[in-house]
Amino acid sequence: MAHRFFASLCCSLFLSFTGVAASAQSTAFDHITQTHALPNGVDLRDGAARMEITALRDNVLRIRISQTEQLPEDASWAVLDSARHSTVSVTAENSDATVGFATRWLRVAVERNTGRMTIRDRDGNVLQQDARPVEFHGNAFRFYKTMPLDEHYFGLGDKTGPLDRRDQAFTLWNTDAYGFQESTDPIYKSIPYFMGFRSGRAFGVLMDNTWRSSFDFGKQLRDVYSYGAENGPLDCYFFYGPDPKQVVETYAWLTGTPPLPPLWTLGFQQSRYSYDSQARVMQIADRLRSDQIPADAIYLDIDYQYKNRPFTVDKQRFPDFSGMVQQLKAKHFHVVAITDLHIAKAPGEDYRPYDTGMAGDEFVKNPDGSVYTGVVWPGPSVFPDFTRQQTRAWWGGLYHDFYHLGIAGFWNDMNEPAIFETPTKTMPLDVVHRIEEPGFTKRTATHAEIHNVYGMQNTRGTFEGLLRLEPNQRPFVLTRASYAGGQRYAATWTGDNSSTWNHLRLTTPMLENLGLSGFAFSGADVGGFAGTPQKDLLTKWLEVAAFQPIDRDHTEKNSGDQEPWVGGADAEAIRRRYIEERYRLMPYLYTLAEETSRTGLPMVRPLFLEFPDALPDRHPIDVDASASQEFLLGPDLLIAGAPFPDKMDDYDVEFPSAQWYNYWTGEKVGKPAALKGNGQPQSSSGPVLTTRVRPDLATLPVFVRGGTILPLAPLTQSTMDTPQGPLTLRIYTGDHCHGSLYLDDGTTYNYRRGEYLRMDSSCQLNSTGLEVHLGPHQGSYPAWWKEVRIEVYGWSPQKDQVAVQSSTATLPLEKSVNCVSVTVPDNGRGVDLQFR
Ligand code: NOJ
Repeated sequence: MAHRFFASLCCSLFLSFTGVAASAQSTAFDHITQTHALPNGVDLRDGAARMEITALRDNVLRIRISQTEQLPEDASWAVLDSARHSTVSVTAENSDATVGFATRWLRVAVERNTGRMTIRDRDGNVLQQDARPVEFHGNAFRFYKTMPLDEHYFGLGDKTGPLDRRDQAFTLWNTDAYGFQESTDPIYKSIPYFMGFRSGRAFGVLMDNTWRSSFDFGKQLRDVYSYGAENGPLDCYFFYGPDPKQVVETYAWLTGTPPLPPLWTLGFQQSRYSYDSQARVMQIADRLRSDQIPADAIYLDIDYQYKNRPFTVDKQRFPDFSGMVQQLKAKHFHVVAITDLHIAKAPGEDYRPYDTGMAGDEFVKNPDGSVYTGVVWPGPSVFPDFTRQQTRAWWGGLYHDFYHLGIAGFWNDMNEPAIFETPTKTMPLDVVHRIEEPGFTKRTATHAEIHNVYGMQNTRGTFEGLLRLEPNQRPFVLTRASYAGGQRYAATWTGDNSSTWNHLRLTTPMLENLGLSGFAFSGADVGGFAGTPQKDLLTKWLEVAAFQPIDRDHTEKNSGDQEPWVGGADAEAIRRRYIEERYRLMPYLYTLAEETSRTGLPMVRPLFLEFPDALPDRHPIDVDASASQEFLLGPDLLIAGAPFPDKMDDYDVEFPSAQWYNYWTGEKVGKPAALKGNGQPQSSSGPVLTTRVRPDLATLPVFVRGGTILPLAPLTQSTMDTPQGPLTLRIYTGDHCHGSLYLDDGTTYNYRRGEYLRMDSSCQLNSTGLEVHLGPHQGSYPAWWKEVRIEVYGWSPQKDQVAVQSSTATLPLEKSVNCVSVTVPDNGRGVDLQFR
């Protein structure tokens, strides 16, 4: 392990990456002195330093490095034990110059003379290559990788800026970032994972290190991307697609999928800081119902509490809290209550969270052993030590009363943790946490190590506590801060955005990158948090959010009202239409949510996730400026807001494949041969289907992929209402025609015992006509429908009767513009239909 005397430029770069004191000594793992083949990898030495590269699966490598013989502790907050302990056997591949191995998918070679590592696929394509060996500076370390000109980077959660991380640099340090802007960094979450994508091939990198870290994608060093942390383990995972969906699914294999959310959380949610009296809460609920704006949830922000103390209620303003929750339930609303993690320091005031927490020694400490105090909403506060299993169990128990009052969801805010009256906005780095946790060595750890994972462990305590209170109810936890793997415990939102058009625009890349980073159930404050939105901005925002996983209207204290009726009847009518459409699409949304919970594939998807080969040169279509506001909801719906939503200029929607339909009219879009832009093929892309859109306040362009079978339900005002009437399946004729529908009781885990309904359908257009197959109902959960209305788009039969398989009966067809439809009984055993 050579000591390095970097050229001053290089050294100062390292310092600026890591913020480490100049006196620390620089070294690098740059010469292999010993090698030892392992059944699943290789163990390398550079003097006393050690690098172990192992294969967990044929497409997943783990790379652990230490400056001493002792590898970092094999423990993780993020990566599941099952994944960390997986192993596959490898074939050693050594030469005079390199040492390494091959799996069935990957080849790893480390140069003996330089320590530089290259990872290739089995066809020899270089996937990742060290630009120089890993470097240490005291306890800090950094990896440097060559950055091909045409490689793009995604992930890192909801970091601001464009979807593509190329040419940007980011710090991972959970930060309360009120009023953040497009270039603010760091913000609330730290998810040290990114996806590289080049020429249709994707890989993932997770650097599992909770300390302050940073990622730089060619900002400081041309043609080099780099990542490192100021301290802590060098413990990285490299995983290969090549399909980007495979990368997302492998990330979920490593860090877990989000659990299936309660159905109601996909409904419209109304919030503000704060509905500060019982009367106001009921007014809001009543207005939503009387204006027939479908809604499922009302949020209680901090002012429902007594003196801002978590787990209390202000009885002046909420004289009959329990009665209010029951009345809301009777109106088919769910209540979500904020429960921040700071506990008021209120000795002798009969404040149970403080008293029991002190008695159980549950709070983090100063280095001198006294309990650390910081000022937040309640004034002087103390902070649970969530890195202890025992403390999380105590914290979870605090939910007992609220849970039994019927509160359906809990909101964990301020958990970076945010602390007032200090320039760092958080607790001192030397505050002491105690790790007492299965799988970890019992030890103390400084806040510098725990900070980025603190919010995640807060939500873990909440989620697991709620499960203990009622093991058969799916908890709903909403968090602001988190770390990789935090999706196992909580949905998230993007924090304190602003009521500006640019923030509406930012929402798309933030939610896409969150989804790629495991957090599929996410939203942004609809209408913006800081400030009051202009009328048209609120309208457009409610339109777009109707197609995003969490649709929650929320604003700050002292801003103007922001509910869907604000601004008058015309605006309200448009907004209502979009929220209604979300409710009609609920079968599709819930089917997607179920897929997410199994696979980790997000609900909101950048286009390249579904169509990595959309363009001839295989660059990700989303990085084109013209497609930058487009996103997919699941595989089948394409939402195409204006690239600059406040501009009234016409714009082109760029499609990632040839067959699309207008969702609103059922019309087929354009001709597949259409060319981009001015009709001239562009060197980097080539022919793409586009359509020109004239922006219109009342319309959000939404398109459906040809080959989709899209399930819709009759409109309801809440997901607690049973839809009345037939299930609709809209068939958009095209290639690979199929559709799936998932349903269960929406609240419990009974689906795990078979109480669900899954129905797979398909269709085929051939020379004799259209064959439609509605699959039998799998699982034992009963359907709410007795009939299915089938609507066919993009193809018209000659006969006006439809033949039903194994029956001589035929059914009459209804014809309307762009659509033919028929309603058939569905007894759950499957139906085959022929349109001729
Ligand atoms: C900060 C959160 O980001 C915001 O959503 C909330 O309204 C306030 N805290 C008050 O609780």
